[in-house]
Amino acid sequence: MLAGAMIMLSELNVKFPSDGASWEQFMLRWIHVTAAILWIGSLYFQILVVVPALMKSEQTMRGKMALAVIPKAAWIMRWSAVVVWLFGFRYFMILAKTDALNAGDVSLMWRWIGIWAACWLGAFVIFMGGVESGKLPAPILVLLAAIVTVAAAWINLALVAGPMTSNKTLCISVGGGIGTIMFLAVWGIVWRCQKKLIAWTRAAVEQGAAMPPEFAMVQKKLAVVSAIGAVLTIPVIFFMTAASHFPFLSGR
Ligand code: HEM
Repeated sequence: MLAGAMIMLSELNVKFPSDGASWEQFMLRWIHVTAAILWIGSLYFQILVVVPALMKSEQTMRGKMALAVIPKAAWIMRWSAVVVWLFGFRYFMILAKTDALNAGDVSLMWRWIGIWAACWLGAFVIFMGGVESGKLPAPILVLLAAIVTVAAAWINLALVAGPMTSNKTLCISVGGGIGTIMFLAVWGIVWRCQKKLIAWTRAAVEQGAAMPPEFAMVQKKLAVVSAIGAVLTIPVIFFMTAASHFPFLSGR
């Protein structure tokens, strides 16, 4: 049996890369993608399965069901988002550094990353301002999210694209930028709403407390921002997978 296994291995020509850089990049990608599955999986699960089930359930059961499912799903979503961001950002640094070294000026890496951070943080601040104002109806918030996303992508590409920036760096600038808006929304908007809703629901289920008047407003904010996040996964996954498999933004 051992001999059979040895023959099979020799025919497969198994050979792991011997350099640290290949290992680092592969581990970053592996962990990044696994965490992304958990993040987006738990987001879709809440939107497509949990919320419709809660809407159909009887009023008396709804709070107990929500408490049994939402806190765990929300925890998975928040912390997998942290892993996705950290590992993705480290990988993005490697891509930007490779292009900067090819351009003969390593400091370009920080220039590109600085422009990237400014564009997407700015986009998030505008979007969050719109959400927190409490004055904009859902369709306008959707439009605002679309406008800030397209504007940030446009400005980012206009300032970073050049003969030495590769398709990988440009695709991740846009996909990672949209992913960053989603990440900030998870921690800055979604979790703050979920914390309130969970506390109010727990008080209602355990002590029979009445729901406060803001309950419906917070629930609506959570629903709109979660739905926008779910739609944004489509361009994020497009740009993430295009980085290495669909060179359309640069000849490099
Ligand atoms: C919702 C958030 C995200 C999702 C679902 C996601 C998903 C993915 C997937 C599936 C891949 C593998 C693509 C492939 O091998 O073809 C990938 C690669 C990558 N991601 Fe993300 N990602 C997200 C956020 C981010 C963020 C925020 C950054 C950086 C700040 C980032 C940086 C990267 C990088 C650098 C790669 C490797 C690209 C390459 O060389 O092919 N990602 N991502």
